[in-house]
Amino acid sequence: SQEVLAYRSGGNAIRTEEDYADVNWDEIGFGLMPTDYMYVMKCSQDEKFSCGELNRYGNIELSPSSGVLNYGQGLFEGMKAYRKVDGGLLLFRPEENAQRLKFGAERMCMPSPSTEQFINAVKQTVVANKRWVPPPGKGSLYIRPLLIGTGAILGLAPAPNYTFLIYASPVGNYFKEGLAPLNLVIEDEFHRAIPGGTGGIKTIANYAPVLKAQTRAKSNGFSDVLYLDSVKKKYLEEVSSCNVFVVKGNVISTPSTEGTILSGITRKSIIDLARNYGYQVEERPIPVTELTHADEVFCTGTAVIVAPVGSITYQGKRFEYKTGLGAVSQKLYSTLTAIQTGLIKDKMGWTVEI
Ligand code: COI
Repeated sequence: SQEVLAYRSGGNAIRTEEDYADVNWDEIGFGLMPTDYMYVMKCSQDEKFSCGELNRYGNIELSPSSGVLNYGQGLFEGMKAYRKVDGGLLLFRPEENAQRLKFGAERMCMPSPSTEQFINAVKQTVVANKRWVPPPGKGSLYIRPLLIGTGAILGLAPAPNYTFLIYASPVGNYFKEGLAPLNLVIEDEFHRAIPGGTGGIKTIANYAPVLKAQTRAKSNGFSDVLYLDSVKKKYLEEVSSCNVFVVKGNVISTPSTEGTILSGITRKSIIDLARNYGYQVEERPIPVTELTHADEVFCTGTAVIVAPVGSITYQGKRFEYKTGLGAVSQKLYSTLTAIQTGLIKDKMGWTVEI
C-alpha cells in the first residue's frame, strides 16, 4: 500500500512506506503537489498549544469571520527536507524557523508552539510524507508551517482561536530560470516594508502587496523585483521572496535586518559560510548607487537557496554582473547545498537527521 499509517499525536511512526510517490522527479518546479498528510494543532488565545495530530492532507474549515481571513492575522515559515544518498532525511536549522515563528507570533498577538513542539511537528510531517521527498539531487520536500487566527472575530482584535498547521510539497528550482541568472528590476513606486511595520517577520500580509510590482516586472520580461527602502528610496531592501547580497572584491554586503528586512535563515547561513571562506561580510544600508560598480549580486532564501543575479535594471539602465563558474555565489551555493543534502560533513551543526 502507498499509505503511511497510524501516527499518534506526538508519537512515533508504527509503519512507514519506503517507496517513492509516482512523480517524474526530473520535471518538478516550485508548484504545489499535494502530499498525503498535514499536521494540525489548535489552541485558544489564553491557552498554550498542546496536542497536535496528523490528518489527511485536504481543505480546512474556516469561519468567514476568522481573524486570518478578515484581518490577515497569520504567519508562515518555509523549510526543506532533503534525502541523503544513504536514504536518510535531513532538516536544515529547524530551531531557527521555530524561533522566527515565535518572534513573529509575538508581533502579531498570537500564541505560538514551543520550539520542541514545532520541530516535533515538522519531523512527523516529513516522516508521514516520506515518499514525497525527492531522490538525492532532484529537489527537496518544501515544508510550509502556518500559524493562523482561525477564531471568529468581527471587531478588530486578536482572534479567539489559533491553528498551527504544516503541509508539504516536493519542489525543484524556485525560479522558472532554474539555476540560470536572474534579471531583476528595481521598483521605485511600490515598497515592500516600512519602518515600524512587519517587514522583518514572516507574516502573510507582507506577500500579497508585492504581487502587483512582481506581476508588472514579469510582464516586462524580468525575473523579479528588487525593492528600495520606503523612506529615502535609495537603499536596497530585498527581492519579493528572498534577501539580497552585493559582492565587491573581498567584501560581501547585505542590508542589515533592522525591522524592514526579513531575517532569512539562508541569509544568516551564507553570512557565516562567507566569513569562513575569508570574505569580509558587512550588514549595512546599501545605497542603490553601489549596484553600478558591483562585481556580483545574488539572492538567498529557503525557496531560492542561492540565486545568481545576471542583471539589474534601474531607471531604464541595465547593470550586469558576474555569474557561473568562479563566481562567489556559485561557491556559496555549492557549499550550502552540500551541507543541506549531507554530501559534506556538517561542521556547523546545522542539519538535523530525522
Ligand atoms: C521561502 O523562501 O521559503 C519563502 O517563504 C518565500 C516564499 C515566497 C516562497
